[in-house]
Amino acid sequence: MAHFTKATSIKDWLNQRLAIDTVERVMMSEYWIPKNINFLWAMGMVLVITFALLLVSGIFLLMYYQPNVDTAFYSVNYTIMRDVDFGWLWRHVHGVAASVVFLIIYIHMFTGIYYGSYKKGREMIWVSGMLLFVAFSAEAFSGYMLPWGQMSYWAGMVITNLFSGGSLHADGLVEWIRGDYVPAQAFLTRFFMLHVLLIPLAILGLIGLHFGALRIPHVNNQDGEEIDFDKEAKKYLAGDKAGSKVMRFANDFMSKDMMVVGIYLVFFFYLVFWNYGFAMDAVNFDPADGLKTPAHIYPEWYFLWSYEILRPFSVDIGLVAFAFAQVIFVLLPWLDRSPNTVPANRRGLFAIWFWVMLVNLIVLTAMGKLPPEGMFSQIGFVSAILFIVQWLMLPFITMFEKKV
Ligand code: HEM
Repeated sequence: MAHFTKATSIKDWLNQRLAIDTVERVMMSEYWIPKNINFLWAMGMVLVITFALLLVSGIFLLMYYQPNVDTAFYSVNYTIMRDVDFGWLWRHVHGVAASVVFLIIYIHMFTGIYYGSYKKGREMIWVSGMLLFVAFSAEAFSGYMLPWGQMSYWAGMVITNLFSGGSLHADGLVEWIRGDYVPAQAFLTRFFMLHVLLIPLAILGLIGLHFGALRIPHVNNQDGEEIDFDKEAKKYLAGDKAGSKVMRFANDFMSKDMMVVGIYLVFFFYLVFWNYGFAMDAVNFDPADGLKTPAHIYPEWYFLWSYEILRPFSVDIGLVAFAFAQVIFVLLPWLDRSPNTVPANRRGLFAIWFWVMLVNLIVLTAMGKLPPEGMFSQIGFVSAILFIVQWLMLPFITMFEKKV
């Protein structure tokens, strides 16, 4: 057993039992961050804050929400929105955060792709990040079911139908997922459980993994510079703070992070109070009706690009293309064969690949919202093919990249 002495303070008492000084040093004051990074590196912290907003607002909504097909719609649209003091505020915070979190995730992901932050020892950061993306997608989808409006019901119907595997007709699997032939009480209850318990727990665990994965390779920097963190940390601790290429996570980097978070929160609460409409679909203000299919069924904006990869093809090919789009980003660290961890603008063909991918995803998103008719369906078809071809080409265009 360890040797304990009479504690001289509460901190000393805790220190002897939990080594809080060591934890503070490893996670905060001697967790070294490069100086040459820009505001895009604050997106991780913006995501943490947005997740916290989702948790807190979700807990308040949970106090009045009723997971019952007869009362769910009214508990949201009448009880929470009208009867409960400030219920509307918690709902707007929750809805806006659920939408904005995807915008920030996409910015964070594409920052990683642009700067090559998924390479050379950072693969686990990338993979855990992609698992977070999947978990957030499942969280958003299950949450969308809960108000039990028309879009909840029909989006639930369409998405669960995908599991029938087209001509495989795995209808038994679809019924097993729904717990019924159509979305009904069993469906609502299980998606409620997933939304408020299982997926949030998984997200918390994955955030822990994501942070743990950052600790050894450290964060990348905007110049693609290979920093010797031990040497630079020694310099810093010896007093040469200006000459060292690194700074402490707390409080140096965190104070910069907090400035970006502050600006973000102004934008966020502007949306919550004055422009929340974009986060709520008008069709979902009608209660679910299994006998009345809405004219257009489409997902929220953040799923439109992958929906548009599914839509232009026949059912079976569409499902394969859709499955491809879901998993391919995870494989990026292994598909990119180049030895360079530098910004895309210094990587020749990869720079073109990056910008075409980004613009094409925006085009797919726009087409996914429009009805699949005439010119729109042709543009959607070409964009979906381009998306697949780009990924297939990636190993070849990066294989011959010269070391910079
Ligand atoms: C939604 C939950 C997420 C949270 C809370 C989160 C948080 C963070 C934080 C705090 C950092 C360090 C600072 C920074 O670079 O911003 C970071 C880095 C990173 N994250 Fe995430 N992240 C999330 C999702 C993702 C996703 C979806 C991806 C994409 C696959 C991803 C990929 C990365 C990468 C590659 C880095 C390293 C950046 C570098 O080394 O420069 N993260 N994340």
